[in-house]
Amino acid sequence: MEKQLEDLKTAFCEDLDHIRKPEEIELLRIQYLGRKGRLTSILRQMGTLSAEERPRMGALSNTLKTFLEGSLEEKTRSFSTEAPVSGIDVTLPGRVLRRGSIHVINQVMAEVEGIFHNLGFATATGPEVEDDYHNFEALNLPENHPARDMQATFYFPEGTLLRTHTSPVQIRVMESTELPVRIISPGKVYRCDFDISHSPMFHQVEGLWVEEGISFAHLKGVLYEFIHTLFGPDIPLRFRASFFPFTEPSAEVDMGCIICKGKGCRVCGNSGWLEILGCGMVDPEVYRFVGIDPEKVTGFAFGLGIERVAMLKYGIDDIRLFFENDLRFLSQFSTKGMP
Ligand code: DAH
Repeated sequence: MEKQLEDLKTAFCEDLDHIRKPEEIELLRIQYLGRKGRLTSILRQMGTLSAEERPRMGALSNTLKTFLEGSLEEKTRSFSTEAPVSGIDVTLPGRVLRRGSIHVINQVMAEVEGIFHNLGFATATGPEVEDDYHNFEALNLPENHPARDMQATFYFPEGTLLRTHTSPVQIRVMESTELPVRIISPGKVYRCDFDISHSPMFHQVEGLWVEEGISFAHLKGVLYEFIHTLFGPDIPLRFRASFFPFTEPSAEVDMGCIICKGKGCRVCGNSGWLEILGCGMVDPEVYRFVGIDPEKVTGFAFGLGIERVAMLKYGIDDIRLFFENDLRFLSQFSTKGMP
């Protein structure tokens, strides 16, 4: 009888191995453990055993029964976790989906655009791969002009380049649109420069208003409105005489340091002022390139860097943080309620 029990175990293990579908488990159970099953029929011989042998055989067959039941249960479980159809373990906890948000540079860009839209400016765009004519020449920066050096340019072999500023959009708009023109041009610009305050790609917004009777006073009015909406109504501004080849006269605009309120600190280099943008009246030389008569109309232009605005607004001291995609940095600017 002992041999029969052993053979039964071997046969059972083999049959169990061949099981491929959960329905087959129940059939196997009936075959071995059912009322007319193979184990039951061996146990029927119990009565023929001697009184000494009976307890040992009883114990052996009990162990075997427990083994058969356990193996069948395990097989059942293996089917429920394998999920053979999709390969998906439905018992795993779900992954938390993190909600994305708008990058801080795009947020500041949208805010800046919004302010100028409210002042009646329309958005115009232009190509990032520019030609020399629009990026330099028509902006009164002829070949060999020393001011070209300030804009470390990425050139392509075929004579095109990555635009170094958004000013070429001024030219494209004046070439193709009827006056008056009142536009801003936001976008990416490129310079071969990389350190704590320079990035090879950054963002600028260019502004241009050309119409009969536009004066420097209009320029001041627009820029005061812009800075005061963005940084608060009490911020002082100063217009410092400067030079740009495409504007005459030109100015750089400083605003009172928002960190120390003009007392002098590390951020403003103890001057109490922060440079925020460049501007001026469009140089008559530029009108010549686009076929506008400078005796009939006047206009102003300005250009500002969005990263610089964002750094001042949020007290960020390293421009590279914007482009490293570190979620610990970016999530500080996550916008609730935005898609
Ligand atoms: N294009 C200049 C730059 O990238 C910025 C600028 C200065 C734009 C003065 C202007 C302007 O329109 O009037 O540095």
